[in-house]
Amino acid sequence: MSERIGVGVVGLGFIGPFHIDAVRRLGYAEVVAVCGSSEAKGRQAAERLAVARGYGDWRALVDDPEVQVVHVCTPNDTHYPIARAALLAGKHVVCEKPLAMDSRQSAELVALARERGRVNAVAFTYLGYPLVKEARAMVARGDLGEVQLVHGGYLQDWLLFPTDYNWRVEAELSGASRAIADIGTHWFTLVEYVTGLRVRRVMARLKTFLPTRQRPRGGALAFQRVEGVETEEVPVTTEDCGMLWLELANGALATGLISQVSAGRKCMLNIEVNGSQGSVFWNQEQPDQCWIGRRDRPNQILFRDPNRLAPTARWAARLPIGHPEGWPDALRACFEPAYRQIREGAPMAGTDYPDFSVGHRAMRFVEAVLQSHAEERWVVLAD
Ligand SMILES: NC(=O)c1ccc[n+]([C@@H]2O[C@H](COP(=O)([O-])OP(=O)(O)OC[C@H]3O[C@@H](n4cnc5c(N)ncnc54)[C@H](O)[C@@H]3O)[C@@H](O)[C@H]2O)c1
Repeated sequence: MSERIGVGVVGLGFIGPFHIDAVRRLGYAEVVAVCGSSEAKGRQAAERLAVARGYGDWRALVDDPEVQVVHVCTPNDTHYPIARAALLAGKHVVCEKPLAMDSRQSAELVALARERGRVNAVAFTYLGYPLVKEARAMVARGDLGEVQLVHGGYLQDWLLFPTDYNWRVEAELSGASRAIADIGTHWFTLVEYVTGLRVRRVMARLKTFLPTRQRPRGGALAFQRVEGVETEEVPVTTEDCGMLWLELANGALATGLISQVSAGRKCMLNIEVNGSQGSVFWNQEQPDQCWIGRRDRPNQILFRDPNRLAPTARWAARLPIGHPEGWPDALRACFEPAYRQIREGAPMAGTDYPDFSVGHRAMRFVEAVLQSHAEERWVVLAD
């Protein structure tokens, strides 16, 4: 139990270094290896990040005997082969979302993780926020009455212009869906997590406003603005945005707008739940507070004060209120219970984390959205 858990991180672009930071802040895990897209990049990153070994081939990291947990932080097309190989090698896996390119792959990963008895988590970061957990506790306690309506979405603007480019635009690397798979899955998991209700069926309309984009010849990192470089025009088949209607298991209705082309909106992920007795609203751009709405008494703003939170939310908050917490804290809290499970055989009582079955469910959702759009009808979300 006092031994450190050895961790390997594959993919060192935008999100990989945040996984390293989050793992280090657990206190009992050590990043012993990283892997970049070439030997030189792996080595340089290991040096820069003070990690013992840097690889250029993820197979070498998976085979490293000191690596007990593999974090998959690469583009979407590589999640399945890396996660699969890691599980087969007996490693625990923390994988970025979306878990795979389709639900056949994600189902296989769920089954393999179960068969091998390995801890598995998907980085649905926003589920790690204390006030998201508090909203879930409010619904579960019945504070809001019966859930009737849910609304919100996820709006960004970083892919608004034809010159905005990233591997996410390429279906071979990202998957058949872009906006829905990339950020819509965050909103979907938030809806099911906060309400505690499964989505029964889906109706969706998708739109690609930019059927071609300018690809920089040297490539572009996520959220990086590349200017003054040579580009080539390439066709784009994936959606820039989509509107969603959902029907939940209890008959409640939900509506969400998902967009990567909404000027001025950066990471506006929000959810409002309207119950028969009250409402709750949370927006990840102001994650330390949520709004509680009432008909028969004054509305409230609830701050992330650990002393005021349910036990299932309190553990995720590290700082007293007044010291803001944010996205890197949520990422840590998202997979911390998985690490407790690796360390102690079970997650701490009252904690939870999104495992591969949540990732698989999100893949089913993406496919249901694509099917609904193509066939212009409601599609039942299979388990
Ligand atoms: N949970 C979240 O909130 C969140 C946020 C951002 C990204 N993501 C997910 O993280 C993943 C990575 O996204 P990103 O924004 O960091 O992209 P990115 O392009 O910034 O970084 C990806 C990195 O992986 C490297 N890479 C590609 N193929 C590789 C291989 N075979 N071996 C080793 N390295 C390889 C690239 O060179 C690049 O450095 C995506 O699946 C994305 O959906 C999740």
